[in-house]
Amino acid sequence: MTPTPPAIQTRHLQMQYGATRVLDDVTVTIGRGEVVALLGPNGAGKTTTIEILEGFRVPSGGEVTVLGETPHTAGEHWRARVGVVLQSWRDHGKWRVGEFLDYLGMYYADYATPDVQRPWPTTDLIERVGLGGKTLRRLDRLSGGERRRLDVAVGLLGRPEVLFLDEPTAGFDPQARRDFHELVRSLSDLDTTILLTTHDLTEAELLANRLLVLAGGSIVADGSPDDLRHRMSATASVRYRRDGQLHTESTEDPVSHLREAFAEPGVIQDLEVRRASLEEAYLTLVHQVETGADTDPASFGILPDELPDEREGA
Ligand SMILES: Nc1ncnc2c1ncn2[C@@H]1O[C@H](COP(=O)(O)OP(=O)(O)OP(=O)(O)O)[C@@H](O)[C@H]1O
Ligand SMILES: [Mg+2]
Repeated sequence: MTPTPPAIQTRHLQMQYGATRVLDDVTVTIGRGEVVALLGPNGAGKTTTIEILEGFRVPSGGEVTVLGETPHTAGEHWRARVGVVLQSWRDHGKWRVGEFLDYLGMYYADYATPDVQRPWPTTDLIERVGLGGKTLRRLDRLSGGERRRLDVAVGLLGRPEVLFLDEPTAGFDPQARRDFHELVRSLSDLDTTILLTTHDLTEAELLANRLLVLAGGSIVADGSPDDLRHRMSATASVRYRRDGQLHTESTEDPVSHLREAFAEPGVIQDLEVRRASLEEAYLTLVHQVETGADTDPASFGILPDELPDEREGA
C-alpha cells in the first residue's frame, strides 16, 4: 500500500514575475489535519504561494504537490477536494446568497462519497458562517464583512480536505472574527488541513498549530507559536531602579543578571522583566531578513535540519 501523501509539499519552489523573483526557494511539508498560518509582510509572496498551491499559477521552478498531485495539472476530482478563499473575489452582484451557493454546490454533487456529503447543505452552511437571514440578499448588497463570510462559505462548500484561506478575516468585526475562529476549530476537528494567511498574529496563534514566516523569498521560520515566540525572543529586557537611578539591560539570562544586580549594594525598586511579544519577535525577524542583518535561516534555529544544504549538487 502506498502511504498517504502529505496534504501539501513544496521543494525549492520559485516564482518570478518578469525580472522580479518573488519566491526564491520555498520548501515545506504540511501533514494532513495541520492548521498552518503563513505569515509575512505585504508583497512577501503569500498570495503567490497559495495561488500556486491552488493551481491558479504555474511556478517558475521547483516542485509542488497538494494531496499528492501537481495543482496546475490536476483534474476536477482533485479540485473538488480542495477549498479556496481568495484574497479578493470577482463579483457576481445580481445573485442572491442562497441561490449562488446552491448553484456552485451542484458542481460538488458528483464528488459525494458514502463518507462525505457534498455539497455541504447550503442552509446549514449559511448558518455556520453567520449569514443566517441573508439567504435572499443580493451579493452586491452585502457588507464587506458579510461578503467575506460568503467567500468562506464558498471555500467550504465542497467539504474540502485541504482549505486555503487568504486573509479570511480581513474586514471582520470582532464577533465575526470570533465566530470564524470557532468555525475553523470545528473544521480542524474534522481533520481538514488548513493553510491560512493573516496579518493578525493573535489570530495566527489562536488558530494555527504551526506558523510559517515567508520573507525574502523563502521560509525563514517554521514552528509552533510557542517555539517561535520563545526562540525568536531569546532576549528579555530587565529594568529597575537602584537608589532611584534607572538601569535597563537586554539579556538572554535575566535570572543571572538579577542575581548579580541584587548582590550589589543599594535599594532596588520598580523591577520589570519583559519578554518580546510574538508580534515584536516577528517584526524583529522580518526586519533582520529585509535589512540583511541576519539572513542565515539556521541562526533562528527553527528550520527543519535538512534545509540549508539540500540544493548542493542539484
Ligand atoms: N501577476 C503579477 N505580475 C507581476 N507581479 C506580481 C503579480 N502578482 C503579484 N506580483 C508581485 O509579487 C509580489 C508578491 O505578491 P503577493 O500578492 O504574493 O504578496 P503577499 O505576500 O500576498 O502580500 P499581501 O500581504 O499584501 O497580500 C508583490 O511584489 C506583487 O506586486
Ligand atoms: Mg496576499
